[in-house]
Amino acid sequence: MGRRLGIFDYLYQKAKSKFSSGKNVEVNFTPNELSENLNLDFKYLDGWIHLALECGILEILDSNQKLLKTAPFVYDLLIDRNNDSYIGGTLGAFYYIAPAQDILIESFKTGKNWSILDLPVEIMIDLQERGARFGTLVERLFSKKYEDFCNNLQKHGKILELGCGYGFNLETWAKKYKNVSFVGIDIDPMALKHAKKLIEKHNWKERIEIFETEIEEFTRSFKKKFDLIILNQVLHEMNTDENYRKGVFSNLYCLLKDDGILLIGENMIPDTFAAKKTFQLFDITHKFTEVKTSLFYDEKTFREFIASTPFKRVEFIRESGSSIWVIRK
Ligand SMILES: C[S@@+](CC[C@H](N)C(=O)[O-])C[C@H]1O[C@@H](n2cnc3c(N)ncnc32)[C@H](O)[C@@H]1O
Repeated sequence: MGRRLGIFDYLYQKAKSKFSSGKNVEVNFTPNELSENLNLDFKYLDGWIHLALECGILEILDSNQKLLKTAPFVYDLLIDRNNDSYIGGTLGAFYYIAPAQDILIESFKTGKNWSILDLPVEIMIDLQERGARFGTLVERLFSKKYEDFCNNLQKHGKILELGCGYGFNLETWAKKYKNVSFVGIDIDPMALKHAKKLIEKHNWKERIEIFETEIEEFTRSFKKKFDLIILNQVLHEMNTDENYRKGVFSNLYCLLKDDGILLIGENMIPDTFAAKKTFQLFDITHKFTEVKTSLFYDEKTFREFIASTPFKRVEFIRESGSSIWVIRK
């Protein structure tokens, strides 16, 4: 709720402008300040704050002045989206999905598909931001393990993101690789509308091209090849037909330079009854919310799938909860 009301974003901005360096562990504020800046009804806000105090999210700094602060670690856990231990997005997702429970229960009873795309656009945007956070972890792990490749990308290069959606992941990469030109393609016009706005906001029109197209058509018409092709949280959403997916990878093979890399960030979902090796709350939530419409792999089935495509070299890298697939010709 704190996210939807804009409270956490407000505290994030406040902390950012207040502390220019060092670690931010708490933010101080008053209820009046929140009410005025966020245009929130004071009585409702008072109720929310009371609950947040009771839950241990906030603490009272000075009762007389009605001054509050975020409790220890809350800044890292709920507010700072760039922090490693940030879990605000995942908690937000639980909250957002709540209104869809009636539809979900109906689907449980009838087996009918429900689509996450039916959620209001404001919720979709926030969920996409959560997915793109996964993309920042993918980028971090990739640049750490493929330092030389990424150093070259710092100088020049061309990156394609297949399934760029709302553009949040493109934004992460474009901020880091300033000399690279990007192409983003997707089949969802609503998402691309948002991606284009993001590009305009950053004044990146010269660097980032966006196309609403299927990969097959794009491969036929686009003549240049890419150093890096990224699929972040896309594969599971694609048409589940195996031949269709093989076709996508044949097209990606054509679009990739001979020494290029296909980088895949995707939840690998183990079998429900497999022995538990790691904590996978985010992944399993993902499976639950898209159980009828998406097709996820586990490590073994994904390797088998790649073996059925033209790609030859596959490396799976997992480190402290993040994982990437680095695939080459
Ligand atoms: C979870 S979103 C990920 C967006 C983006 N990669 C990110 O990390 O922010 C998945 C995206 O894949 C797109 N998608 C699904 N099937 C696709 C296809 N066949 N071709 C292109 N995009 C596709 C969806 O429209 C959606 O925008």
